[in-house]
Amino acid sequence: MNDHINILYVSLSGNTKAFIQKLTTELAKQSIIVNSINVRERPTQKKLLEPFVTFLPAFLKGGNGIDNGFKEILTTPLRRYLEFADNYKQCYGIIGSGNRNFNKQFALTAKQYANDFGFPYLTDFELKGSKSDVTKISALLIKKQSENSLAIEGSADTNA
Ligand SMILES: Cc1cc2nc3c(=O)[nH]c(=O)nc-3n(C[C@H](O)[C@H](O)[C@H](O)COP(=O)(O)O)c2cc1C
Repeated sequence: MNDHINILYVSLSGNTKAFIQKLTTELAKQSIIVNSINVRERPTQKKLLEPFVTFLPAFLKGGNGIDNGFKEILTTPLRRYLEFADNYKQCYGIIGSGNRNFNKQFALTAKQYANDFGFPYLTDFELKGSKSDVTKISALLIKKQSENSLAIEGSADTNA
């Protein structure tokens, strides 16, 4: 089984970054290394050569929790990163976040990405995430990672 998990994300006000840090600490206890790129800090687009999971907080223009807004703002550098060199094809899922005060608009951008790029919407968490979010999402990523390893082994057999 792979001993690392790759994460592409964007964090503008630090909540998602704090969550990724908690996740990194949790997974390290299980001997899994997290390699993460925060597009806000490392904006230079690179071709990503290994499978990864995306984390995306919602920043939508308009909408107040009653009237929905749909237009993505501020997070578009992550969208461009996924488009660059077809990076999105290596993405095996997206985890959304936001603030539940936005009601139906909660974590909506990640749902839009899943729809636009065709990868699965895995789950979501609010703001910096709770302890139980860290436990739940760590377990989910370990499960996904082992599915990926099996898929890679399976394709090697087919090509042998
Ligand atoms: C201008 C603005 C628009 C936002 N729009 C949404 C939204 O549509 N839906 C939502 O769930 N959260 C929305 N949020 C809340 C952020 O997604 C939330 O604070 C998130 O944790 C920010 O992540 P970050 O600190 O990693 O950048 C918005 C926040 C701001 C400042």
